[in-house]
Amino acid sequence: MTRSIRPLVAGNWKMNGMKADIVIASEVAKGYDAGLKAAVDLAICPPASLLITASVVLVGSRIATGGQDCSTQGSGAFTGEISAAMLADAGASFAIVGHSERRTLHGESNATVKAKAEAAQKALLVPIVCVGETKDEREAGKALAVVKKQLRGSIPDGATGATLVVAYEPVWAIGTGLTPTAADVAEMHEAIRAELGRLLGKAAAAGVRLLYGGSVKPSNAVELMNVANVDGALVGGASLKAEEFLAIARACG
Ligand code: PGA
Repeated sequence: MTRSIRPLVAGNWKMNGMKADIVIASEVAKGYDAGLKAAVDLAICPPASLLITASVVLVGSRIATGGQDCSTQGSGAFTGEISAAMLADAGASFAIVGHSERRTLHGESNATVKAKAEAAQKALLVPIVCVGETKDEREAGKALAVVKKQLRGSIPDGATGATLVVAYEPVWAIGTGLTPTAADVAEMHEAIRAELGRLLGKAAAAGVRLLYGGSVKPSNAVELMNVANVDGALVGGASLKAEEFLAIARACG
């Protein structure tokens, strides 16, 4: 953890969740007790179809909601797209952008991710910009170079700790049960902080929350969350179980 930074644990439900599953959000709210509230921020990013419902269920809980993506565009003839302003209108405070599933399955470039992050900021959402290397890139010793390049291409100009979150998610760790070693996470997060320093200035970079994501579970959360420069987690599968999500949050508290 970075002691001066309040950690954030964000749940990415991906394409999971029917309206009956909103009970997961209410259970998380119930378990977000006084001790946890004082120590860690939580956010739930349900599918867009449940965003308003989740925001309503979480009113008064101090748990934020977020979108899983947003359009680069403000409004208009973009069938199927959802603008950042629409997410904000549905109660969101965050928008995940550049998740590896979007980069891979939808061919999103760094420039697209940057435009989405800027659109999110314009709507007063905090973008959670995702970066991470593939297995081949790690095995070829290119992980640091790949992630630095993604940062240079995807981070909005002039961002600060109040307007940006970065999530390091090694592609090979997402949904696989595999995680990097604590030493590899430490090396990467230090490199990300340093690169953000070059891009945004040291003071701004020092305040940006750097989340680790990829197979975070209650069983590995304490080790991962105690790594230097890890300021929380972006959680996929385990965020669909209230008890597991809360246990991960407690690892930050
Ligand atoms: P996972 O997903 O926790 O299921 O590995 C993380 C993510 O894709 O954000």
